[in-house]
Amino acid sequence: TVLVVDFGAQYAQLIARRVREARVYSEIVPSTMPVAEMLAKNPKAIILSGGPSSVYEEGAPQLDRAIFEAGVPVFGMCYGFQLMAVTLGGTVDNTGAREYGRTQLAVSKPGSTLFEGTPENQSVWMSHGDACSAAPEGFTVTASTGVVPVAAFENDEKKLYGVQYHPEVMHSTHGQQVLEHFLYRGAGLKPTWTTGNIVEEQIAAIREQVGDKRAICGLSGGVDSAVAAALVQKAIGSQLTCVYVDHGLMRKGETEQVEKDFVAATGVQLKVVDAQERFLNALAGVSDPETKRKIIGREFIRVFEQAQLEILQEDGPAVAFLVQGTLYPDVVESGGGTGTANIKSHHNVGGLPDDIEFELVEPLRQLFKDEVRMVGQELGLPDEIVQRQPFPGPGLGIRIVGEVTKERLDLLREADAIARHELTAAGLDREIWQCPVVLLADVRSVGVQGDGRTYGHPIVLRPVSSEDAMTADWTRMPYEVLARISTRITNEVADVNRVVLDCTSKPPGTIEWE
Ligand code: XMP
Repeated sequence: TVLVVDFGAQYAQLIARRVREARVYSEIVPSTMPVAEMLAKNPKAIILSGGPSSVYEEGAPQLDRAIFEAGVPVFGMCYGFQLMAVTLGGTVDNTGAREYGRTQLAVSKPGSTLFEGTPENQSVWMSHGDACSAAPEGFTVTASTGVVPVAAFENDEKKLYGVQYHPEVMHSTHGQQVLEHFLYRGAGLKPTWTTGNIVEEQIAAIREQVGDKRAICGLSGGVDSAVAAALVQKAIGSQLTCVYVDHGLMRKGETEQVEKDFVAATGVQLKVVDAQERFLNALAGVSDPETKRKIIGREFIRVFEQAQLEILQEDGPAVAFLVQGTLYPDVVESGGGTGTANIKSHHNVGGLPDDIEFELVEPLRQLFKDEVRMVGQELGLPDEIVQRQPFPGPGLGIRIVGEVTKERLDLLREADAIARHELTAAGLDREIWQCPVVLLADVRSVGVQGDGRTYGHPIVLRPVSSEDAMTADWTRMPYEVLARISTRITNEVADVNRVVLDCTSKPPGTIEWE
């Protein structure tokens, strides 16, 4: 394990992902964790992340110098670099001059452990106020910039390394190479964290955990629950039963994908509950977004519980496990302790009912989203499922502004299918993180079609680009594609006479409209 010590900015997750891209397993720990506890995890290397503070600020996070004396290779980046410099007796000046953005790095020791094989001049991404002017004793300065005399230092004997910039961001052109040099050359690690190994390890762990009992898994049609279910299926076969609640709020073809393609690819036992009527009845007359979300979440859990009860009553070994597709970022974020405001009440499949006791099986707990997709591929799941863009649990129910009815759902499903088809045909699926298609059911506008006046509803296209859905920008997609989508929707979908583009970033807008 490589530990990434999180100094409180958003860099730690990115660093952990980059380490995994180098096929080395990494985990994030908060900088407040005592060093003894970090070392007890037996790390093969430690990376100190960047952070928002200045080392001289009052209350700035500190680190026990024991971390540098345990014989574990350490790589400090940005704030981690300065902390390392100050702790080991180097000089960091509070210059007040901020350096932010793309900077030219001049490598002064081209053959060093970190910089071997990289150009003598390279672009790096800086974001700091203080500057290191003298490296600690025993360290060799290996790079500088116009502003910072010591932009990188290395101590091969103690296996301690640091860079002032952010090698983990894309703008640092040789960042990944430098990181890999630290991992392979500095710390002597091997690239063994591969998809095949992950699958093997997880299958063994699931078998061990579940034994000869049975497990239940809720499928949502999304990537995470599908991959979790496929992994568990591979491990315990017919001891697993999957439940799919058809709430009628899915997009066109998605229920069929789960019922047919997923089952065909995995051989899983699937129980489909048709609850469309029930959801429509529960949503009748409701237009308030939060109320809709709560109703959908509540009905979902009730239907799921009922299905669980039926499975419990079937003959066979006891059902003691519930499979969930929890991912590593959720684990980090819920352990991080910093409370984020509840802007919308999100709901996920398989909310745990109070009165049935299950143990959780969470085979994706260690994985980032891209790793989950790779595992899905390795398990032979169809691309339509593995590469699927994010889709909210409450489905199209929160993409109809106004009351949800069967007619409106059918109409929105058609419009959404057209938009998705055209985006895929234009090769934009990668560039676009997701593109909600929203029906403004409570709005009407005047139009003209053929020779007649129309009085129909607008459809909103909301294409966004994002890294993690926390922030997003609207995608500047080609006008021709927008034109095609608009023409097709207004021609082919009854009652829609206008298509509009949402050009709002997040913040201030959220990705979904409700
Ligand atoms: P917002 O609208 O908050 O969405 O910017 C951020 C991301 O979360 C998705 N989303 C949900 N996902 N259950 C989910 O599993 C939900 O209730 C839910 N609401 C929003 C949204 O599609 C976007 O990717």
